[in-house]
Amino acid sequence: MRNRRWALASHAQGAVSESLWKLEETDASRPAERQILVKTLWLSVDPYMRGKLNEGAGMQAGSLMQGGGVGEVVESNHPEWRVGDIAESPDVGWQDYAVLTPDLPGASKVNKVDTRFAPPQAALSWLGMPGLTAYFAMLDVGRPKPGDTVVVSAAAGAVGQIAGQLARLAGCRVIGIAGSDRKLDWCKTIGFNETINYKSASDLAAEVARCCPNGVNVFFDGTGGPIHDAVLKNLAIGARVAIVGRVAVANNSGGEDTGLRASSRLIATRAVVQGFVVYDWWHRRDEALQRLAAWHKSGELQFREDVLSGLENVPRAFMRMMAGENFGKQLVQV
Ligand SMILES: NC(=O)c1ccc[n+]([C@@H]2O[C@H](COP(=O)([O-])OP(=O)(O)OC[C@H]3O[C@@H](n4cnc5c(N)ncnc54)[C@H](OP(=O)(O)O)[C@@H]3O)[C@@H](O)[C@H]2O)c1
Repeated sequence: MRNRRWALASHAQGAVSESLWKLEETDASRPAERQILVKTLWLSVDPYMRGKLNEGAGMQAGSLMQGGGVGEVVESNHPEWRVGDIAESPDVGWQDYAVLTPDLPGASKVNKVDTRFAPPQAALSWLGMPGLTAYFAMLDVGRPKPGDTVVVSAAAGAVGQIAGQLARLAGCRVIGIAGSDRKLDWCKTIGFNETINYKSASDLAAEVARCCPNGVNVFFDGTGGPIHDAVLKNLAIGARVAIVGRVAVANNSGGEDTGLRASSRLIATRAVVQGFVVYDWWHRRDEALQRLAAWHKSGELQFREDVLSGLENVPRAFMRMMAGENFGKQLVQV
């Protein structure tokens, strides 16, 4: 069986381009004892992958590009997996066929996808890692209370659209920040109360102040950079800040953020700032997925995808997402 796969041609320095990857064709590997072979159906492109492209971040030049995906089992040497089962794993990689090891623990575990409740690609978006990120970073780190003002950045993306809806469900006033009016219209449709276009705002901090006259109680920070600074200038007493992502400074390889030194504001507001990694919460995955599925079933949680077709388009999908051209969760249907 032939396997097309995207290999990392060279490590990234600064801004990335599609020439970082090369498409190769090899024979598909065969599954050993307690392994399965899956045919890739869907691949996810995610901002965290930008960090993986740096030298020293774990991927060698010439190796398969890592990434999460969903596939159909076409051969099984594992007693709990049958041909035709649908598998989700962060270890699929950008390729047509992947050998997976279901017995690995933690986040690398291979999950069976039950397609009776949602289409298979949901396991890469609202019923998968992005949904879990929104759930735990908003509810456990942000701890929103009824009446709170909550600001979400990268608000129309995979994580942000869920985070904002969870804050709405918690009884909060929700302000979404994103980079296009089309995306912000979608945020309004799914229940954000106010929106800010960070690209067209002449004074972002003033715009946040206008939308949040009593300050920001919860800040769900998906971007870092100038949006982070603008919101930090507007924190309310006792604010909770979840530092979830830094896509705005992602090309600053390995470097630190620049900008506001917030110590005086953090002292004055007694704010709590907490860094977040979704895999720290993996032991509560089932709880989160059940609640997300229930909200979705009752119509209280909506989700938008942006799909490109064909393995040949995975680098393009990644570039689109990093440039903000995705409108919803960026996926590739292989
Ligand atoms: N810590 C964790 O465990 C964890 C897990 C998952 C995701 N994350 C983080 O959460 C964030 C959102 O991830 P996602 O998967 O939902 O991606 P996403 O929001 O679907 O896509 C990335 C978005 O980032 C925005 N963006 C790009 N450059 C920007 C810039 N210079 N300034 C402001 N926004 C910019 C773009 O939207 P605009 O059009 O609005 O610019 C783009 O659509 C990322 O930072 C990601 O790394 C963290």
